[in-house]
Amino acid sequence: MKYLSSILLLAIPALAAPSPTITERQDAGCGIASGFSYQTDAKLPDPFTSTNGTKITTKAQWPCRAEEISQLFQKYELGTLPPKPSSVTATYSAGSIKVTVSDGGKSITFSAKITTPSSGKAPYPAIIGIGGVSIPSQAGVASITFDNDGMAAQASKSSHGTGLFFNLYGSSATAGATTAWAWGVSRLIDALEMTPTANIDTTKLGVSGCSRNGKGAFIAGALEPRIALTIPQESGSGGAACWRISDAQKAAGKNIQTAGEIVGENAWFSPNFNAYSTKTSDLPVDHHMLAGLIVPRGLFVIENDIDWLGPVSTTGCQQVGQMIYKAMGVPENFGFSLVGGHSHCAFPSAQASDLSAAVSKFLLGGTGSATEVSKSSVTVDPTTYIDWTAPVLT
Ligand SMILES: *[C@@H]1O[C@H](CO)[C@@H](O)[C@H](O)[C@H]1NC(C)=O
Repeated sequence: MKYLSSILLLAIPALAAPSPTITERQDAGCGIASGFSYQTDAKLPDPFTSTNGTKITTKAQWPCRAEEISQLFQKYELGTLPPKPSSVTATYSAGSIKVTVSDGGKSITFSAKITTPSSGKAPYPAIIGIGGVSIPSQAGVASITFDNDGMAAQASKSSHGTGLFFNLYGSSATAGATTAWAWGVSRLIDALEMTPTANIDTTKLGVSGCSRNGKGAFIAGALEPRIALTIPQESGSGGAACWRISDAQKAAGKNIQTAGEIVGENAWFSPNFNAYSTKTSDLPVDHHMLAGLIVPRGLFVIENDIDWLGPVSTTGCQQVGQMIYKAMGVPENFGFSLVGGHSHCAFPSAQASDLSAAVSKFLLGGTGSATEVSKSSVTVDPTTYIDWTAPVLT
């Protein structure tokens, strides 16, 4: 498979938002080492061993490793994320931003609805909702509705290749729907940056979405470094859950969504992923490493105890993701909250104060006092799922 890594590497540093401790991604020389092959392992891959065999010991090495991880995700699971195209233009009128993107002689246009808050101060921080925001609205924070279905359809397995993204890049583009949505969110952010009349502070952006759209929110946060706070809600398998743990739970008799089920149900992932859906132990990545693409930015993962979502899998997977935040010296930027006993995507009030603290810290000027959150109604020992230990990076 031909890889767009060199273009990607040139494009991403230019997009990177300032971050407290490290610069996002890295330039020349970072990427999957040539000759890399992965030894099948039922335990979660070690985020701290590079594809060239080097152990990560310093924080300064992480952006380079993160670039590898991003490329591994794209190669095995997500499909290729195209770089920023040659032309993005935007106009704003009456609560709607209209975005036109041109690449390779083709052009697409989409619109997103912006709802500004009744309190706070313009330009407003905003949460981009994949298919709409389903968490409670936050004082002083705008919400922006991103039409993910229009960008890449999620109607069935055979809807791969349908939607605006594929009108631009062709129906045989490898991107799964979630990757195409992440690309669309990036273009929306390009548009917001060039349109001050939209009154959005693009240094204070969150992304959220629930269920299938929560998978999309997690992946958008992982692929787009300008997102300050990623809030996947009840994303389950394909989002906060790890493929391997979900498979183990299924083998133990749980009614849980797995990679095998997902590739048969819908077009969320790349056709590249199909071959691995029944042998997830062959994947050099798993979803704890999505957290490794978001660190040191804010991450607040909301889950539920519905069997299909895999409460043991989401809890165990993100406890391992939390190890990356700890290793990087920013445990307070990580949150995981699983509260059960409510219907799917109904946000329970028990999670409200932790969510508000994260919003306050990452979207409302850093004045909040969010601390590391790791709460779950199921008890999991994350060391069951790994055969490595996290270093303290210097
Ligand atoms: C191996 O990869 C790591 C990052 O993943 C990088 O920091 C290091 O420079 C690489 N080593 C060599 C010899 O290329």
